[in-house]
This record gives sequence, C-alpha cells and structure tokens, in this order.
Amino acid sequence: MAVGERAGAAVSTAEPLVRLQDVFKIYREGTTETVALRGASLDLPRGLLTSMVGPSGSGKSTLLSIIAGLALPSAGQVMLEGQDLSRLDEAARARIRAQRIGVVFQSGNLIPFLSALENVQLAQALSEKPRRNGRAAQDLLGEVGLGKRLQHRPRQLSGGEVQRVAVAVALANEPDLLLADELTGELDSATAEQVIGLLAEIWRQRHTTILLVTHNPELAARADHRLRLVDGLVKSA
Ligand SMILES: Nc1ncnc2c1ncn2[C@@H]1O[C@H](COP(=O)(O)OP(=O)(O)OP(=O)(O)O)[C@@H](O)[C@H]1O
Ligand SMILES: [Mg+2]
Repeated sequence: MAVGERAGAAVSTAEPLVRLQDVFKIYREGTTETVALRGASLDLPRGLLTSMVGPSGSGKSTLLSIIAGLALPSAGQVMLEGQDLSRLDEAARARIRAQRIGVVFQSGNLIPFLSALENVQLAQALSEKPRRNGRAAQDLLGEVGLGKRLQHRPRQLSGGEVQRVAVAVALANEPDLLLADELTGELDSATAEQVIGLLAEIWRQRHTTILLVTHNPELAARADHRLRLVDGLVKSA
C-alpha cells in the first residue's frame, strides 16, 4: 500500500476531521468499574490513513465506537469538524453516522437474513442521500470482488468474503470517515492483503479519512499517521 504521498502538510495545517480531547470511558457493571479510556486525545487528519495499534483490552474498539457516535464518552470531547458528537442526541448521531461515517466492526457487521446485495442497499437507503457518483450496490460489491455473490447471505460466504461485504456496506453511504476495527484479524494473509489493497485503492480514489485499528505492526507501519493505544491513552507510534 503506497499511502505516503499525501502525508506532510495536511497533518500540521488543516483542521482535522476528527479531534478527541481527554476522552474517558468508564464501563460500570454493578459495582465493577472498568476504565477503558483514561484521557485519550487524538486527531484524525483529513484525507489521511491513520493506523492504531495497542494490546488487547487497551480500548481500541471503545475508542472507535465513540468516534462513530455509537457510544458516549464518560468525559471529554469528540469533535467531528468542530461539532461535539457527545452533545448530540442519539437520533442526531445516528443521522451523522448514516450519512458520513462507514464502520467495519471487529465482527458481526452484517444483517444475517439479508443477502450481500440487500445489506449494501440497506446502508444506502439509510444514508438518505443521492449518490454522488451513482455507484449502485452491485457495482460496489463488484469492486470488492463479490459480483458473483450478490444473493448470498453472510453464512453462505467465507470469512474474507464477509469482511469484503462489510467494507462494501461501510462504503455504501460514500463516507467522509471510514472506521475499520481489525479488518483483517481472522483472514489468511493473502485475503488480508486483498482487503487492505482494496482499502488503499478506496483511499487513493476518494481520499476518505480512514482509521484502521490493527494488531498487525507491518500493516500499521504502512499508514501515514500512526497511533498506539496504551492503557486507555493515545501515544504516537
Ligand atoms: N460493554 C462493555 N462493558 C464492560 N466492559 C467493557 C465493555 N466493552 C469493553 N469493555 C472493557 O474495556 C476494556 C477495553 O476494551 P476494548 O474492547 O475497547 O479493547 P480493544 O483494545 O478493542 O481489545 P481487542 O484488541 O481485544 O479487540 C477491556 O478491559 C474490556 O474488557
Ligand atoms: Mg477490539
């Protein structure tokens, strides 16, 4: 993945698409408290691919769900283009997510009783916006190499195919921000490489701002902007 060309000026000068400041997340279950994030701050520079590594349990998925507006921080600010997501109600956050954000979760991204095509079409319908380049759902699935699997349901697809459908779903709303959590975790290296190639291609074509959470240090090193999460705090990698 050659993603270095656009690094540089954009990192230091432009307003970041996403800025987190002193974000805390405390999960409370009965009398047990887990502090998943303890003052995490980061920028996602516009148009760059940012990678994030960190040990299991360090808070990566928590951070991602907060950036996606799926979870609220216990304290701190989550700014998307200067707007604090944590001050919006759930409906407003859902609207922003449907229109502007694509998320590929660690697992379970797809609706099991819908076909690959219907999963993508649903995300398009939820975004309620006209497609800029008129990319139809079947074209998106063609781009991820699944043109012949349109009518298959998730359980009829391989792990790599499911992940690629998930990428197509995440791109269905032509997002400004793509958040991917362990996209390649359960894939063999050839399929992982294919999925990453796809992501790099998307980035090259559209300059989507991407946050890629990964356990793979080699993959992380190929990003323009590299972060590491350690015990709920962000460090540069
Ligand atoms: N819904 C929840 N309720 C309670 N604790 C949670 C919840 N989600 C996560 N945690 C805890 O918060 C901490 C951070 O979890 P998180 O899933 O963000 O880590 P992670 O860095 O994504 O790990 P992994 O690399 O294993 O995916 C962990 O200690 C986890 O057990
Ligand atoms: Mg995780």
